[in-house]
Amino acid sequence: MYSFRLKTLQSGKFFEEDVNKWGTLWTRRQHLMYPIDILLDEHKLVERVFAIIEKVRDKLEDKEEVPATIFWKLVDFIRGYADVIHHSKEEDIFFEQMREHDTDLSDEVQDNIAVLIEEHIEALDLANEMHKGIRAYRRGAPEARDKILKSVDGYLKIMKPHFEMEEEDVFPAMVGVLSKEEKTKMKADFSRFDDILGGKEVHKRYHKLVEELEKEL
Ligand SMILES: [Fe+2]
Ligand SMILES: [Fe+2]
Repeated sequence: MYSFRLKTLQSGKFFEEDVNKWGTLWTRRQHLMYPIDILLDEHKLVERVFAIIEKVRDKLEDKEEVPATIFWKLVDFIRGYADVIHHSKEEDIFFEQMREHDTDLSDEVQDNIAVLIEEHIEALDLANEMHKGIRAYRRGAPEARDKILKSVDGYLKIMKPHFEMEEEDVFPAMVGVLSKEEKTKMKADFSRFDDILGGKEVHKRYHKLVEELEKEL
């Protein structure tokens, strides 16, 4: 897990502290948040959904019944939050900004960014497969369970390593080359993007949806 030494000015004195996983900054001092913290904060919510999807996958493998409402909520989350809210910030704002720094990044990091973008598309395709599977499940089609199982399993297999690559490799490399001004602009762009979708309210809705799913399973 990535960690670093953070130097901050508090009451006229400098303090240093170890920050393990940059998302912790969100709770400590929001005004010091880097754009990366916003993405890592979103990762935390998606990771809670990974745990939910694992439970669903286990139930499907054990031939247990899973209410269709659970699947609908998962598809809503994967498309509305993981893809539209989170992946769009990464692709359209964060990775886009990095185009100006292509000479500062190693070939390996640039190749990894291309892989991450491809995986965003694959994840959305799997959500669409899940959606088709749910429709068939509701109609009682015999192949529906396998279709859903294949899509949820595929989603986990792609997205868990995807998050690891972002957190441990690509994000730290990218943040290291951004100027203070670029970070400030990126935070403002993230905020403007969220506002298009409903601002804090849309985040609250998806947090509530995840809490409901955790209770229902
Ligand atoms: Fe991503
Ligand atoms: Fe991400």
